Amino acid sequence: PGFPSLLKNGLSKLGVPKGFLEFFSRRVGDYPRIQEAKGSISAIRDEPFFIPLYELFLTYGGIFRLTFGPKSFLIVSDPSIAKHILKDNSKAYSKGILAEILDFVMGKGLIPADGEIWRVRRRAIVPALHQKYVAAMIGLFGKATDRLCKKLDVAASDGEDVEMESLFSRLTLDIIGKAVFNYDFDSLTVDTGIVEAVYTVLREAEDRSVSPIPVWEIPIWKDISPKLKKVNAALKLINDTLDDLIAMCKRMVDEEELQFHEEYMNEKDPSILHFLLASGDEVSSKQLRDDLMTMLIAGHETSAAVLTWTFYLLSKEPSVMAKLQDEVDAVLGDRCPTIEDLKKLRYTTRVINESLRLYPQPPVLIRRSIEEDVVGGYPIKRGEDIFISVWNLHRSPNHWEEADKFNPERWPIDGPNPNETNQNYSYLPFGGGPRKCVGDMFATFENVLAVAMLVRRFDFQIALGAPPVKMTTGATIHTTEGLNMTVTRRTRPPVVPKLEMATLEVKSSVNSS
Ligand code: HEM
Repeated sequence: PGFPSLLKNGLSKLGVPKGFLEFFSRRVGDYPRIQEAKGSISAIRDEPFFIPLYELFLTYGGIFRLTFGPKSFLIVSDPSIAKHILKDNSKAYSKGILAEILDFVMGKGLIPADGEIWRVRRRAIVPALHQKYVAAMIGLFGKATDRLCKKLDVAASDGEDVEMESLFSRLTLDIIGKAVFNYDFDSLTVDTGIVEAVYTVLREAEDRSVSPIPVWEIPIWKDISPKLKKVNAALKLINDTLDDLIAMCKRMVDEEELQFHEEYMNEKDPSILHFLLASGDEVSSKQLRDDLMTMLIAGHETSAAVLTWTFYLLSKEPSVMAKLQDEVDAVLGDRCPTIEDLKKLRYTTRVINESLRLYPQPPVLIRRSIEEDVVGGYPIKRGEDIFISVWNLHRSPNHWEEADKFNPERWPIDGPNPNETNQNYSYLPFGGGPRKCVGDMFATFENVLAVAMLVRRFDFQIALGAPPVKMTTGATIHTTEGLNMTVTRRTRPPVVPKLEMATLEVKSSVNSS
């Protein structure tokens, strides 16, 4: 028995009235209390906030409480507690602060939505990302990545360094625009108003997620602040564009003769929007816009961050890069990857798995308890704000050997693709439970294909004199000053395999004799 119950028994023997003891024990509790982390909180100012949370995890363990003035958060870094919250008792949790911060841009879209709205929208959207759709997207990934290669070709010829993070952001924006609502941002080639509007809104969402005071809620300020005016104008432009795209797509659906079925896809416009409209999905135009916007953001920033950190890691580990290039040369030759190729690019996939371990996007998952619960043996009240630190789970010394080392070999090449289930919630690059990412297959193929096509054609090195690559955080992990790289065209290995040459020579000498 713990100290409180020993004390209670002792006091009872001394004749202290039972009612008082009951009251006393409820206050002190027979339950253990979650430890409160103290000190080092001021450190949270200049580093990305998940770094001091890692230090605190090493001191206080898999669950602790962090208090800033009136606000208090539970920080979870334990796989079984994460599993409890995300999967086993997920109904007791909502998206909490996340939904509040993102309301202006995502409204009731699938990421922030809770309860019945989430259930209905999840049921409508998941079928749109069926296998045939994901397979059809591979051509799109190839075309978009090829545009990036052409851009890098020019830089390589001119001997100019390139800032890869912004190029990856444009690559994944071009891809997700076509994939979700059949719109070609073409941001790798041109800078249109709409591309700038998307970035204005994204930066605002990130600023809000790290801002200590919600200035956007202050009555007069919100009408006169030039920054907020710009954000509102950007939102209006995006919403108007989405409304036009929805109207255009509706006309296409009305005119087409295709029957809707499970793996329905319009070859000319395979987008998620087209699927949703053709399915007869009964949805308000505001809700549809919220969902499209949510997928635009969810699928864009995450993949861009994964590519950025993958190339950073590769630049630090030349032996991994060499092995990766060997695989890509052997599997791809010079063609654009097909789905069969992607399945054969097993080492490339492990590189992405490992990059997602070291740089999970987002680095923390946010929840709020909407009923009382018991987590890791501790009772918690309704209304607790919780951060599940995926960063801590993925770098925990309890689960990983040399946790900070980029080592794709830690995942057996012929083993199953690592995911939250087969890694028991020590690894959750796409979350877990009912709120797991709907784009995991899409994103994995997109990233594997982009890495393969790029390393097939080019070598990448951190540019000479570039500032050190440091992290900063919004919703995903960014670099502080970009990822500046020198890109050089690879000298190709001989194309004709030696063995076949030898057989040919033997054959011809047999014939001639
Ligand atoms: C949810 C990661 C790409 C759409 C999530 C979650 C994670 C995640 C961790 C769970 C969030 C939580 O539990 O709070 C990623 C990563 C990606 C990626 C790392 C790229 C490498 C995509 C793409 C799409 C997408 C391409 C869309 C096509 C969504 C949606 C949700 C989600 C709609 C919310 C699901 C729900 O709440 O029911 N993603 N994602 N994601 N993701 Fe992704």
